[in-house]
Amino acid sequence: MRRSMLRKKENLIGLDIGSHSIKMVRLKEKNGIIQLLNAGVVPTGPESLSTSKGNRQERLAKTIQKLAAHLKVKGKLIAMSISGYEVMIKKIELPMMTEEELEDRMHLELGQYIPYNIDEVEVDYQILDVAKDRPSFMEVLLVAAKKESINDYIDLARMAGFEPTVIDVDFFALGNAYEASYGLTGSENILLMDIGAAKTAMNVLHHGVPIFTRDVPIGGRQITEAIQESAGISEEAAERIKLGEPSPKIRETSVQEVFADVVSNWVSEFKRAVDFYYRNYPDNQIEKIFLSGGSSRISGLAGVFREGLGIPVEILNPLKAVNYEEKYFDPSYLDYLGPQMCIAFGLALRKNVEK
Ligand SMILES: Nc1ncnc2c1ncn2[C@@H]1O[C@H](COP(=O)(O)OP(=O)(O)OP(=O)(O)O)[C@@H](O)[C@H]1O
Ligand SMILES: [Mg+2]
Repeated sequence: MRRSMLRKKENLIGLDIGSHSIKMVRLKEKNGIIQLLNAGVVPTGPESLSTSKGNRQERLAKTIQKLAAHLKVKGKLIAMSISGYEVMIKKIELPMMTEEELEDRMHLELGQYIPYNIDEVEVDYQILDVAKDRPSFMEVLLVAAKKESINDYIDLARMAGFEPTVIDVDFFALGNAYEASYGLTGSENILLMDIGAAKTAMNVLHHGVPIFTRDVPIGGRQITEAIQESAGISEEAAERIKLGEPSPKIRETSVQEVFADVVSNWVSEFKRAVDFYYRNYPDNQIEKIFLSGGSSRISGLAGVFREGLGIPVEILNPLKAVNYEEKYFDPSYLDYLGPQMCIAFGLALRKNVEK
């Protein structure tokens, strides 16, 4: 028997490097039960401190090392993700064929589907479904990313002492986090939205398959910046005020106004994205929105979205249904932490030996 067949499938460490914070999650899955081993978050640190890409990578690597040491994370193999901005996603229709036939065909014909020089991109693909209105065809999802962006992530992981084993895409990790938390009914049509600091990852899961994925430049930093401007203070001070610390520099009511203004812009932007979705999928009604990301903690956000978008909203906390040892985690902390950890959690579901 080959050694690789003896090796147990193990969960990789999930590492999500955001523009505001770095998240790490380690899980252990056994007989369908998910156990939480580690979960933690640290600030990414201001971009302005870095003078060059190399400098920034080095600083990030140190931060990742510190987080791992603090959490006492065991293992070296990690799963990371790139954002939707760094990938090209395309759906194509091909005649029904086996995975092997598809692999051969992709090998020969990839160039005609991808508008880049094939030597400069990494391409992955997945069979989705039978094509709409063409029963003898199947839909195949192509995902292409520039080798250069992927290599930056690989270099960073190695600099931090880890071995990158899987490079996923944010919104697919989000889909996996949802699936592990709620299970798939096979008939759902839901919108996942991870609102971070600089961007929001969107993914419509239709019958368990991502049919509409996009990143939009909307995030909590817009609120921090507006507070910063209105009070004439540093980003760090504005961030503290945003999280509720009182300050003589700005009145509580002005802070609330900033929140209301920015969030109302978000509703208009997301409405546009949802309208665009409906132009493409007029028959697939969105049943519910699941919010995650650090900015999903903004108080009252779910209600404002429900009202503005006319769709029920729920906060997605993937740490709600997991097992853990009570001596290591406080349930109320996991309630607070969970929504911010969705992408890291989705990555931590990936295994070192993929089928
Ligand atoms: N309690 C809170 N209330 C409001 N905003 C919050 C709260 N906690 C965190 N945030 C905001 O959430 C954002 C960080 O969330 P997250 O960690 O998901 O972002 P990120 O992944 O680093 O960013 P991105 O994915 O956009 O690069 C910050 O803008 C932060 O101010
Ligand atoms: Mg993020």
